Amino acid sequence: MPDGSTSDAFVAFERVQKSYDGENLVVKDLNLSLPKGEFLTMLGPSGSGKTTCLMMLAGFETATHGEILLDGRPINNIPPHKRGIGMVFQNYALFPHMTVAENLSFPLEVRKMGKSEREEKVKRALDMVQMGAFGGRRPAQLSGGQQQRIALARALVFEPELVLMDEPLGALDKQLREHMQFEITRLAHELGITTVYVTHDQTEALTMSDRVAVFDDGRIQQLDPPDTLYEEPQNSFVAQFIGENNTLEGVVQEISGDKCLIRLDDGELIDAKPINVSQVGERTRVSIRPERVEFNKERLQEGAHTLKAEVLEFIYMGDIFRTRLRVAGNDEFVVKTRNAPDQVRLKPGEQIEIGWLPEDCRALDA
Ligand SMILES: Nc1ncnc2c1ncn2[C@@H]1O[C@H](COP(=O)(O)OP(=O)(O)O)[C@@H](O)[C@H]1O
Ligand SMILES: [Mg+2]
Repeated sequence: MPDGSTSDAFVAFERVQKSYDGENLVVKDLNLSLPKGEFLTMLGPSGSGKTTCLMMLAGFETATHGEILLDGRPINNIPPHKRGIGMVFQNYALFPHMTVAENLSFPLEVRKMGKSEREEKVKRALDMVQMGAFGGRRPAQLSGGQQQRIALARALVFEPELVLMDEPLGALDKQLREHMQFEITRLAHELGITTVYVTHDQTEALTMSDRVAVFDDGRIQQLDPPDTLYEEPQNSFVAQFIGENNTLEGVVQEISGDKCLIRLDDGELIDAKPINVSQVGERTRVSIRPERVEFNKERLQEGAHTLKAEVLEFIYMGDIFRTRLRVAGNDEFVVKTRNAPDQVRLKPGEQIEIGWLPEDCRALDA
């Protein structure tokens, strides 16, 4: 896995900052490098600086400080048409006076490709986005979703080395979106294309990417493969932003090695793993995933601290049960259990005890 060193990187951001008004930094200190062939997603809330980073990489914006390198060379020395970058943006405009096939053929003509090769590539690109029958239509005769699929096909038709995509699937319905997520990743890997993908949809980021860079406030909060990101969030923002998460607040009472004892604000004690806390007396928010909470005492470790909980709501979801609890004053504490034949269905009003393995409960920044 890449370690952030930029020596053999295909794309590298080095201490990049960006300000539009000369005062406020919307990208604060971006260091990021991708090896060839990687599918990297920038994930974050609206306004966190994702599009700005993509525009700088594409060459439509310049960095205020720092450097962006493409294949080892500073990007500002390479003219845009020689960058070999395919782009799909949220509102990508197709040429309205050209048919779909002509739109796709255009980037190939620019590259002086022969007619029969062009036709073959256009056909393949159209099939790839399930639009094989639409080559003769004009963009105005297509739905928004269909236009976006054509825009995607046009970005991939010349098999660029680097593709940038900014929320390309936002306009598509759920089923087509999921199909396209699968198609985009399969294609990117098959063609060996390096991809920088932007989304605010965490499920999309987790399912598509080799690595995900979580953005907030112009900074990368964490950069990791999807499973590491979900299972080992390094701060409260990431824990909260990725997946469903239960949070309890308290103060560090003891720390020894990879365990700590937290006194919650209502006085109860719980075991946790110290991630982002280093001293006794420090305030912390502990984070525990809904599927890691246990209420079957036989499955808890000997001597583990448990908490009293009241069942507030039981929701049957088919494959899983989602139970909402009141825990240490928090009415939004959620437990998820698999719908197995012997699984208990908790009832509202029941008083139970819950616990977890200390390593599943992470003591993060307050
Ligand atoms: N062309 C621009 N001029 C001035 N401010 C901009 C411009 N584009 C984006 N911004 C601001 O920069 C910040 C980051 O925006 P953006 O990169 O679009 O975030 P994201 O794509 O994560 O939603 C926002 O506060 C936004 O208002
Ligand atoms: Mg954006």
